[in-house]
Amino acid sequence: MRISVIGCGYLGAVHAAAMAELGHDVVGVDVDEAKIALLAAGKPPFFEPGLPEILASSVASGRLRFTTDISAAAQADVHFVAVGTPQSADSYAADLRFVDAAFRSLAEHIKPGDLVVGKSTVPVGTAARLAEELAVAAPGVTLVWNPEFLREGFAVQDTVAPDRLVYGVPEGEAGERAARILDHIYASALAAGTPVIVSDYATSELVKVAANAFLATKISFINAMAEIAEVTGADVTKLADAIGHDKRIGRRFLNAGVGFGGGCLPKDIRAFTARARELGKGESIAFLDEIDKINLRRRSRVVELVTQELGGELAGKRVAMLGLAFKPHSDDVRDSPALEVALRLVEAGADVVATDPQAIESARLRAPMLTYKRSVEQTLRGADVVVLLTEWPEFVGLDPEQVGELVAEKRIIDGRNSLDQARWRSAGWRYTGLGR
Ligand code: UDX
Repeated sequence: MRISVIGCGYLGAVHAAAMAELGHDVVGVDVDEAKIALLAAGKPPFFEPGLPEILASSVASGRLRFTTDISAAAQADVHFVAVGTPQSADSYAADLRFVDAAFRSLAEHIKPGDLVVGKSTVPVGTAARLAEELAVAAPGVTLVWNPEFLREGFAVQDTVAPDRLVYGVPEGEAGERAARILDHIYASALAAGTPVIVSDYATSELVKVAANAFLATKISFINAMAEIAEVTGADVTKLADAIGHDKRIGRRFLNAGVGFGGGCLPKDIRAFTARARELGKGESIAFLDEIDKINLRRRSRVVELVTQELGGELAGKRVAMLGLAFKPHSDDVRDSPALEVALRLVEAGADVVATDPQAIESARLRAPMLTYKRSVEQTLRGADVVVLLTEWPEFVGLDPEQVGELVAEKRIIDGRNSLDQARWRSAGWRYTGLGR
């Protein structure tokens, strides 16, 4: 198929490369010239395992091109819109400026019979509005909503072989034809047995935010249990193991710690609550406000624990931070719990030295006041306390005996409950987890 992808951020760049890898002829379009220059040279503008390989091979084969000129979309028949929907500057609602601008400019270059496929995460009701607008601006074009569930760090795999596909289509022949075209585009996933759910627009939009709301709820649920464990002496990791054996509950996404961050979960649950209030149904998901609050309290808890460990005074104390990204296998520091904790410790007067295998550059752009070190050894040297906030394998695998020789004080706060506490304790460390 001839495909255009409008918006080459995390979602769009991966989608464009994955579609080309599947054999389609793809053009990626973005207004950011620097990003397009990198992508056109076959280089991802962010860290994502597996992406450099498929990007380079697809660009080299000519199946994948990148441009800032949206008129290139005229050569395609199917147009994926994958622009960002960040949180608005002055409210919890999603900022739809980029979506609206993408649809407006795309409408000028498409022809009757084309398919526009929305992939961005949008408030429920947006697709119906955009379909009405397209009917005027680009008659004969069909809109489908096809939400994306990719996880950073597994984005290529999640795009090529997703858990499920959701098509939000209009009623009648136009919707049936649109579903057939998407089936063709995703033929390899369908052949591998990926289930497809065909629905109306509203359901497809809600599936995405409901999935993220559920995941956020699972994480905050176990973090709420961690708060109770902290005052009762219980161990939340054992609790998670025990309830996780119940197949109805499941162990995944029950890791208590410093909580969730990133470019999706936090802003998506906030946009969902804002949209529910607009619909007069704020109370239906008012619990998501609590989910957000529990999550943010975990960051404060880590700051509190560091302060306690340092005897109540942070000024002049050296804190070694292991991790900056919002999760391992990513260089993304958007709403990263690790970065927020680091900044709050600096504000309180601590001398914070931080490291991360991939996220130093992205962290430096947002937080130039932190001291960054490439090596774990340099980060730990002379530390009064060590704080682990992103569970990269290279941190989890550290030898407590060896690194004990680098620090000034053998004190570690495991903000992801990912270390073997018995091993660290027997190497002479004061180990503090979250809720254990
Ligand atoms: C998420 C959704 O998983 C994905 O389906 C959606 O498309 C985009 O949002 P992502 O933001 O890449 O993906 O991260 P995810 O793996 O879901 O982790 C989110 C956050 O939750 C991370 O900060 C992670 O550290 C935290 N987390 C995850 C926990 O604190 N505990 C857990 O048990 C799991």
